[in-house]
Amino acid sequence: MNRIFSGMQPTGNLHLGNYLGALRNWVKLQHEFETIFCIVDLHAITLPQDPAELRRATREVAAAYIAAGIDPAKSLIFNQSTVHMHAELAWILGCFAPLGWLNRMTQFKEKAGKDRENASLGLYAYPVLMAADILGYKATHVPVGEDQKQHLELARDIAGAFNRRYEMEYFPLPEPQIFGAATRVMSLRDGTKKMSKSDASDMSRINLTDDADAIANKIKKAKTDPHPLPDSEDGLAGRPEADNLLGIYAALSDMTMHNAIAENAGKQFSAFKRDLVDRAVAVLAPITQRMRELTSDPTEIDGILARGAEKADAMSAPLLAEVKRIVGFLRP
Ligand code: TRP
Repeated sequence: MNRIFSGMQPTGNLHLGNYLGALRNWVKLQHEFETIFCIVDLHAITLPQDPAELRRATREVAAAYIAAGIDPAKSLIFNQSTVHMHAELAWILGCFAPLGWLNRMTQFKEKAGKDRENASLGLYAYPVLMAADILGYKATHVPVGEDQKQHLELARDIAGAFNRRYEMEYFPLPEPQIFGAATRVMSLRDGTKKMSKSDASDMSRINLTDDADAIANKIKKAKTDPHPLPDSEDGLAGRPEADNLLGIYAALSDMTMHNAIAENAGKQFSAFKRDLVDRAVAVLAPITQRMRELTSDPTEIDGILARGAEKADAMSAPLLAEVKRIVGFLRP
């Protein structure tokens, strides 16, 4: 049986990059895999979070999952902190993760910055918690972006270390799930930077909560260059903004980059942007609309999360009990 686990942190606003780069692909995976999509609130508090904002963002991510097409009847949707396996297994797995491995994690170095002494143990242990998320369900495949590959690699190493110590093939080694067509959406203000929920400028991203006017305004103001659109992929060299906007156009239209270039060759940005706005609004409006419905009355979302947590708990509790037995914990 093949099982997918993935998650997003409930921090900041979800944006077009999250949709085209992840959510849209997760929706397709529901048909081929058993799928678990978590809202990783335990990971969120590795950096300081405002409690009310954390609760709001947790519901918003759940709403985005569902609005994007993740079906709670097909996929498990829950927030991490409601299932105790995650924290408990993370502790056990942490005892199989040498400091040498953790010290190599580039994301910790980036997030901790220069002030390493003030970074928390939680931020340092972040990848171990992620390993627990994945291994706690014996997930076989994990859709992750480039920035999370090293963490997935670590999860494999920890699984291997556990298996070797107890001389059994207990945890399957999770594989990255790569998408041929996954779109790397860049900032609307700088085509060399990823679109990010932590970017100070809201004009740099299209939020999944933006209405049609906001989307139109942001695309209209998006950075460009003075040349018309190229007629070949080669013509995109050194033109990151043209590359990004065409990539978004292609993804929103479900077409290849090659076809998107052919369709828009020689156009001025002003005309191209009008078409791009139409496509962005056509794809995003129904999602935004559904998200608004879901977040306006949290009863439905909270019910979905509670039922998801119950199922996730039933699924992971036996594994946790087995791991405890393997490790040698007495259960009198
Ligand atoms: N670290 C991931 C991110 O920030 C989120 C995450 C937590 C995750 N646990 C996971 C992703 C398990 C995949 C599998 O993007």
